[in-house]
Amino acid sequence: MSLPDLSPRPGELEPIETASRDEIAGVQTSRLAWSLRHAYENVPHYRRSFDAAGVHPDDFRTLDDLAKFPFTAKADLRANYPFGMFAVPRERVARIHASSGTTGKPTVVGYTLADIDTWSNLMARSIRASGGRAGMMVHVAYGYGLFTGGLGAHYGAERLGCTVVPMSGGQTERQVQLIADFRPDVIMVTPSYMLSILDGFRAAGVDPRATGLKVGIFGAEPWTNAMRREIEDAFAMHAVDIYGLSEVMGPGVACECVETKDGLHIWEDHFFPEVIDPETGRVLPDGEEGELVFTSLTKQAMPVVRYRTRDLTRLLPGTARSMRRMMKITGRSDDMMIIRGVNVFPTQIEELILRYDGLAGHYQVVLSRTGRMDEMAVHVEARPESWGAAADDDGRDLAVRIKERIGVTARVVVEAPGQVERSLGKARRVVDNRPRD
Ligand code: DLL
Repeated sequence: MSLPDLSPRPGELEPIETASRDEIAGVQTSRLAWSLRHAYENVPHYRRSFDAAGVHPDDFRTLDDLAKFPFTAKADLRANYPFGMFAVPRERVARIHASSGTTGKPTVVGYTLADIDTWSNLMARSIRASGGRAGMMVHVAYGYGLFTGGLGAHYGAERLGCTVVPMSGGQTERQVQLIADFRPDVIMVTPSYMLSILDGFRAAGVDPRATGLKVGIFGAEPWTNAMRREIEDAFAMHAVDIYGLSEVMGPGVACECVETKDGLHIWEDHFFPEVIDPETGRVLPDGEEGELVFTSLTKQAMPVVRYRTRDLTRLLPGTARSMRRMMKITGRSDDMMIIRGVNVFPTQIEELILRYDGLAGHYQVVLSRTGRMDEMAVHVEARPESWGAAADDDGRDLAVRIKERIGVTARVVVEAPGQVERSLGKARRVVDNRPRD
């Protein structure tokens, strides 16, 4: 399959994207000094936590000094709900977003106009890295609203000079119709919802390979390279990964480059990444897997210092850009299932599922407990053309592979097409029905 060449032409990149490592470190050092001071002087929480740890912004001289500063966790944001983490008066906050936590209060974040400007620029940079260019049409199917996906993508696409279709999530039939009629070049959506759109194309009898789509920019949830192949084949387009989180900005903290698709370049001129051992908090050398931590370098309204993302990955040197890469997120520390002592991530199961021609990428893992034993059931949909004996055979084989590869016993339930829960945004991959003890 030959996909369009969307690699950048000379002169299309910003100078910092190909700057030397020394230059990048220089920018990071001066920006970090500003950001730590800004947080300390304007956010009571940071003043308290720095003081308690016995550090002061003056103690930061080189990048290694950052490790002396305390971590920030989601619980700190919750404790300062709603606006306690803001470093500027509320009147200077131009926009609020929020992400729904698993429990109770949402996590609230704020942006000054300058922050929105930076975010738009970084999203424009991300879309260009993905293969988007001025003049292209971008269909945005991330949800608009408090979720950062829709508006983040929208402002970035406008900034790049694209024509934006602000479709938002949901109304799958309408998505299919607009994509077929408007012929956008780029789609931005969660990968799981892209599979629902794919079903929509098939249901409508429209050939997904004839849409004219050149690239899909997928993020907001973990997805695998197996899913990438599935989507690239189905639509004859590039599929690239974009990462971000509300607390740090929203989408566009890191993005893959279409010419390499080898992990996501972190926009290190605005966010300083670290990977730590989630148990001890020790900073790990590049290349080792652990929990990703970010410090913002330029954010005005809500600076974050050593924010623990709970996302697991490793850092590697840059390839298509000078900035370091993070590998695809393998899972979240709170998404990890421990089944009879074995650590399991939904992405490991996804990778195995997508090896079968008879099984579709719609799946959900259901955990339950009988007596003292945890049980794992994998509910996975048959592809319409294989529903019946062929899919059942694949399901039986999948159970064997899960045991072999991951080391846990799973009951595989092959569901009829359309039976696994769909989300319009982030998929819920794990349903934990075990009693809380
Ligand atoms: O999901 C921002 C976003 C929107 C990113 C659209 C990309 C595209 P939150 O709702 O705050 O923000 O959720 C952040 O989602 O900590 C990860 O666990 C997960 N996540 C985001 N992007 C990826 C990705 C948005 N590419 C949380 N791969 C993060 C894996 C991702 N997980």
